[in-house]
Order: sequence, then structure tokens, then C-alpha cells
Amino acid sequence: MKVLVIGSGGREHAIAWQCAKFSEVHHVFVAPGNAGCALENKVSNVEIDSKDIPALIEFAKEKSIDITIVGPEAPLVMGIVDDFQGQGLAIFGPTKLAAQLEGSKAFCKDFLYRNNIPTAFYKTFTEAEEAKLYVKEQGTPIVIKADGLAAGKGVIIANTIQEAVNTIDDMLEGNRFGDAGSRVVIEEFLVGEEASFIVMVDGSNILPMATSQDHKARDNDDKGPNTGGMGAYSPAAIVSPAIFDEVMDTVIKTTVDAMQSEGMPYTGFLYAGLMIDDKGKVKVLEYNCRFGDPETQPIMMRLKSNLAKLCISATQGALDSAKAEWDERTCLGVVMAANGYPETYIKGEKIEIPDESLDSKIFHAGTKLEKENIYSNGGRVLCATALGTDIKDAQTQAYGLIEKVKWEGAYYRTDIGFKAL
Ligand code: AMP
Ligand code: GLY
Repeated sequence: MKVLVIGSGGREHAIAWQCAKFSEVHHVFVAPGNAGCALENKVSNVEIDSKDIPALIEFAKEKSIDITIVGPEAPLVMGIVDDFQGQGLAIFGPTKLAAQLEGSKAFCKDFLYRNNIPTAFYKTFTEAEEAKLYVKEQGTPIVIKADGLAAGKGVIIANTIQEAVNTIDDMLEGNRFGDAGSRVVIEEFLVGEEASFIVMVDGSNILPMATSQDHKARDNDDKGPNTGGMGAYSPAAIVSPAIFDEVMDTVIKTTVDAMQSEGMPYTGFLYAGLMIDDKGKVKVLEYNCRFGDPETQPIMMRLKSNLAKLCISATQGALDSAKAEWDERTCLGVVMAANGYPETYIKGEKIEIPDESLDSKIFHAGTKLEKENIYSNGGRVLCATALGTDIKDAQTQAYGLIEKVKWEGAYYRTDIGFKAL
């Protein structure tokens, strides 16, 4: 079996590493990948950008790829799945229509509302004056979201009316997010604890992945600017068996059935970002049409079944007979970022990585390999990930691994997992 993974982050390294563990998988290509992928057995990088769909199709044909797994949202929203399928190539991900669940916040919110899936109350605006009036009526805190893809930077929680007004001006008139911000969703501020609920879908059948929790804020104690994610662990204690069943029933099954009946059946990873309040009531914050990063890293460490085979089953509509087996232990990953992330930071710093054990792994994200040396090449650079008997043990192991990494400019949170402790 030959696998093509599209993307270059920690998520893609973890997916490629997991697939390559199995003897049925002969080779994994990652386009464009990172230094970590390049150093893996049976894995190699391909110099093709993740949005260059024609070149990716040509490569998949030339190498007779059996399954393509798409990491990031951008190519999915562009329609990579439709284009691969049009050429008879097997690819796991949602079509362009279905990927709107992530590609447009307004689409997602309208979908949730008309299908009675619990979510924050909201309104959509294209006119700044109307949006400002609405915010003044509603009061603060209030949440303002750019409609389109904004690389995790399009959500502002405004604590004062002035901040809300400035954000609206910035998004609707200042063109800060280009087309992505020509429409905004303004919604009710929800309180509670977040969890990531990720499943595989084949159009109608659902295979849940292990639950997880991300840490979106840059600094300890959930302070500082929002990021792509500074660390994650799996399973998420907050998702009790009762909450799990409720989410599967009222959120995930309802979504999959409605996508099918509305003529845009969903195939791919489906990631519900949940807010769970102190009474255990769940609301959907957002949908992503892909796996989470860094949630993928601990989840792939726990997945004992062959991910590539599961993806092939899904493209054949056969997830009803597929099974995912999990390592019962807890896994925790700490992101090591370049100092300054998510704002400005420097690249090109030399990094030395320790030897890993069976139960720990350093996944790469923004790294590149030059003459056998590893250099930083992005904001989020590494994810030190370790299995443990419980969350405390996994945390101790992951931070122990970090201490062995030689990299001057590293920044990381020291409290990943604190909510579960
Ligand atoms: P999103 O991209 O929609 O998940 O938003 C990014 C982050 O903003 C979420 O992970 C939450 O931490 C926060 N957020 C989004 N919507 C809300 C909301 N309605 N109430 C409170 N926090 C929110
Ligand atoms: N970790 C959050 C995300 O992947 O969107």
C-alpha cells in the first residue's frame, strides 16, 4: 500500500508516522512534509505545495498512490477531494461543498441552527453599522468571527464595546482578512470547558476517534493570544461516557444525516469543537473538516489500528465494519514554538533532538533538514508527545522529553493538561 499525506505540520508527521508503522504500508509520501517526516523510516517528502492540486494529482497517478490523506483545511475548501475523485483517485476528506462546514462560519452556523444542533446564538452581518448596533444591543463579552478561513486568527472575544467596534471595522471595512472577513458572525459568549470531538465519516457511517483536549491560548493558565494550539492530551476526562453518547447522538449523527439529506454527504475527518458547561450541557463552537493539530499527535500515539486502512474503508463506504483500537493509556503532547509565536519570530535556529523511546515521540511541524541538521522553520516547531499510565505520568514524561531537546529559542507552556489534574 502506498500513501500520500498532504501538509507539513505536526499533524501530518503524526499521520505519516502512524501509517508507516504497519507492514502493509510500503511507503508514505508527504507533500511537502518537514524534517521529521524526512527522517522517518519508509517516509519521504515530496516538494509539492499542499494547495497545488494539479501537481498532487499528477504525483498520485505517477506513484499509483492507494490512498491520499489530506491534513489541512485549505486544499479541502478549494475542492481537492472533488478533483482527485474526478480522476478516479482514492482520497479521504470532504468535498468542496461539505468542507464549507469549516470554510464558512455563516454556513456552519446556519446548518447547525436549521438542524437543531446546540450552538451559541448568533447573527451574520456584511454591513459594519448594523453589526455595531447589534453589539451595542447585546453587550459584552461578545464573540466576533470572520466568515472564511483565517488560519485560526479570525475569532475575537471582545470584552468592551470599543474593542467590538474596532474588530468590526477591522474585519468588514479594514479588509484585515480579505474575502474571509467580508462577512462576520457575531455570537453569544459561552462559558465552560472545551473539548475536541473528532470522528471519521464515510458519508453515512461514523467511526469515533479518541477524545482530546487542546490548549488554544499561548501562555500558562490559558492566558495570552489565541494560537493554533499549544498542547493536547487524549482522552479528555471532561467527555464522560454520558456526554460522549449525547454528542454522538445530538451532534455528530444529526450532522452526518443532515449533510446527506441536504445533498452534500460528508466523508472525511469531522472535528467538532465543543463547549461543555458545568452542568454537562454541550454546544458546538465550530466544525473543522480535518483532524486537529496538535490533537492528532497524542491520538495517533494511542491508535493501534492502521489509519491508512481505515481511510481506505471510509472511501469505500465501509466504516460500519471497521474498528479502531486504542492504547488505554493517556497521551500528552506539548508544543514547542518559536519565541514570539503567534506574532513575529525568527526561523533557522539549530535544533538537536534526543533519541525517542517506544512510548514517546517528538513530532516535527515547522522544521527543515539541511545537511543532516534540523533547523526551525515556522511558528509551531515541535510537539513532545508521551504516553503515561495517567495524565500526570504522561505530563511528566512529555516534559522530561522536552528537557532533552537542545534548542535555545524554544517557548512552551509548562501546564499542558492542568485542567485534568
Ligand atoms: P473557533 O475557531 O470558532 O473554534 O474559535 C476559536 C476559539 O475561540 C475557540 O476554541 C474558543 O476558545 C473561542 N470561542 C469561539 N466561539 C466562542 C464562543 N461563542 N464563546 C466563547 N468562546 C468562543
Ligand atoms: N487544535 C485546533 C485545530 O486544529 O483547529
